[in-house]
Amino acid sequence: MRTRAFRRANLQVSEIGLGTWQLGGDWGEVGDEQAREVLHAALDAGVTFLDTADVYGDGRSERLVGAVVAERGDHDRVTIATKVGRRADPHVASAYTPEALRGWVGRSLDNLGVERIDLLQLHCPPTEVYADDEVFGALDDLVTDGLLSAYGVSVETCEEALSAIGRPGVTSVQIILNAFRQKPLEEVLPAAHEAGVGIIARVPLASGLLSGRYDLDTSFPADDHRTYNRTGAAFDVGETFAGVPYEVGVRAAQEVSSLAGSGLTAAQLALRWILDHEAVTTVIPGARSVEQVEGNVAASDLPPLDPALHEELRAIYDHHIRPHVHHRW
Ligand SMILES: NC(=O)c1ccc[n+]([C@@H]2O[C@H](COP(=O)([O-])OP(=O)(O)OC[C@H]3O[C@@H](n4cnc5c(N)ncnc54)[C@H](OP(=O)(O)O)[C@@H]3O)[C@@H](O)[C@H]2O)c1
Repeated sequence: MRTRAFRRANLQVSEIGLGTWQLGGDWGEVGDEQAREVLHAALDAGVTFLDTADVYGDGRSERLVGAVVAERGDHDRVTIATKVGRRADPHVASAYTPEALRGWVGRSLDNLGVERIDLLQLHCPPTEVYADDEVFGALDDLVTDGLLSAYGVSVETCEEALSAIGRPGVTSVQIILNAFRQKPLEEVLPAAHEAGVGIIARVPLASGLLSGRYDLDTSFPADDHRTYNRTGAAFDVGETFAGVPYEVGVRAAQEVSSLAGSGLTAAQLALRWILDHEAVTTVIPGARSVEQVEGNVAASDLPPLDPALHEELRAIYDHHIRPHVHHRW
């Protein structure tokens, strides 16, 4: 497993990490044993970056991550990134007070079973928060007080990413980047690279679409966001299938899959495409089985894609996907 740096924090992590939203909830049933197996498989395979959030299963994901890392004695080797903010109800900018931030951090420390959070991310805060010096001052204070090693922001839009990159204390920006979300290549990745801000590429498989396994008849459980958030009824629709209408995505994913060949699955092609951008620090696919983890981790050992493949993926994006997503996020 290759590693890359969060340069502002002087921190090296595996270039393939693990997203753990599905270990909390919102993806149908994932039992405790299954969740633990997925975490162990990732850590066994050299993953040293885990992404979670306080709202994933109302803390279940954080508790599972913290417990597995602790029982393996892996806290010195593994970076756990969590997120806060989405517990605010209503989720409005005025909820991001220094007191609220400290309270959310305290709860995540308890869930993770640690005394200091390696990387705390604001969890797609309202846009006004990016301009609020008090919020970033409060995050600096939490670092000074030893409760955080570093902080970053998980963002919805490229404009928000650029605002976050402009904040000197921000170590990382987490953004949707995949073959169906190519806009961050234009300004966000160059700006992050220039500023030394790490990019965490989330939703790298477009919620599984880019694995090429789904067709128009595929159905997902009722408690899976791929059923209940398809039109954005519960949260930003961009988080489900990367905001691509399902039928459009299935068709485009079939074209992507046809580019994968022997020795390269469609999911690996999708992950490799992301890794080929040097501004990316780590890619965090979610996985619900040991096989998925192992397949995803193997993308790190593959050579960069041929430039012609990059061009073909660009053409698929331009033809099918761009009109649906490019202007929105
Ligand atoms: N606002 C935010 O900050 C935010 C929002 C979204 C996600 N995230 C983070 O990003 C992480 C990743 O995003 P995501 O989980 O939403 O989407 P994703 O990684 O694009 O997709 C995950 C899904 O892809 C499929 N998959 C994974 N590995 C596979 C493989 N090797 N072969 C075939 N299929 C495979 C699985 O689908 P099946 O379930 O069909 O098997 C899995 O549930 C999350 O876990 C979370 O940590 C953060």
